[in-house]
Amino acid sequence: MASSSQSLSFLILTTFLFLTTHAKTAPVAPGPTPEPLNLTAILVKGSQYSTFLRLLKETQVSTQIASQLNSSFDGLTIFAPTDNAFNQLKAGTLNTLTSQEQVELVLYHVLPRFYSLNTFQTASNPINTQASGSDGVYKMNVTTSSNQLNVSTGINDAPVSSVLYSDFPLAVYSVDDVLKPEELFGVKPPAAAPAPLPAKKKAKKGPTSATAAVPSSSADAESSDSSPRMINSGWSIVFGVGIGALSYLM
Ligand SMILES: *[C@@H]1O[C@H](CO)[C@@H](O)[C@H](O)[C@H]1NC(C)=O
Ligand SMILES: *[C@@H]1O[C@H](CO)[C@@H](O)[C@H](O)[C@H]1NC(C)=O
Ligand SMILES: *[C@@H]1O[C@H](CO)[C@@H](O)[C@H](O)[C@H]1NC(C)=O
Ligand SMILES: *[C@@H]1O[C@H](CO)[C@@H](O)[C@H](O)[C@H]1NC(C)=O
Repeated sequence: MASSSQSLSFLILTTFLFLTTHAKTAPVAPGPTPEPLNLTAILVKGSQYSTFLRLLKETQVSTQIASQLNSSFDGLTIFAPTDNAFNQLKAGTLNTLTSQEQVELVLYHVLPRFYSLNTFQTASNPINTQASGSDGVYKMNVTTSSNQLNVSTGINDAPVSSVLYSDFPLAVYSVDDVLKPEELFGVKPPAAAPAPLPAKKKAKKGPTSATAAVPSSSADAESSDSSPRMINSGWSIVFGVGIGALSYLM
């Protein structure tokens, strides 16, 4: 009788202890069970990425990344340039970029899938980034050796200096250089810069001069199927400019 009441009180005590210790940890457990992946937290912890953090926020790419991490089956890889890397840019470089170009610059540091150091070894170049423009997706090349990973943009090369995080779906690598996509930092072909304005004029002229060139027999036909190449090239310029303007707005 005595022993059974002893064991009963022991049982009650252990149950009580179990419940109290459990209750203490309870609020932690169901809350952030698998702690949500937080790129900002990873970079803040790295303590030398304040410029990149600012750009991620200003361009709202951080929001995009957060939702992608939530839903992407392929994961993401981020190259985070250090503050020192940004300091090495020619003064005012960031300010010469339009806000859309800043978005593309940040997106160029994001790859739309998870690459561990091992998967980089077998990745085939060029590798797609999340940046894109009217010329398509911006790409980079990676070269690896047993203990080194280099990223090449066509403009500059940056060795990956450390791994900040690498666990599917997210890999974050530190780089000592801002990765410069050719599309933003390359020598622009002379025609590219003044293109938008003259292109519109040309496009307007195109159809009129073309219809003038077409014999009267087909002049009534509005459709461009019988029209000379000039129209087509004129309209593809209009189309190209349209797409360019559209992606600019988006
Ligand atoms: C991510 O971490 C940052 C910095 O620690 C914090 O301010 C932010 O609220 C966190 N975001 C989420 C969604 O947990
Ligand atoms: C992530 O997904 C969960 C549920 O699927 C949702 O509640 C949460 O708001 C999402 N977070 C982000 C940052 O999209
Ligand atoms: C990476 O680049 C450095 C020079 O920046 C070079 O010495 C090294 O051989 C390269 N490594 C690989 C794997 O390409
Ligand atoms: C990647 O490498 C290929 C082959 O060497 C080269 O043609 C291409 O321009 C490179 N692209 C970049 C972004 O470096």
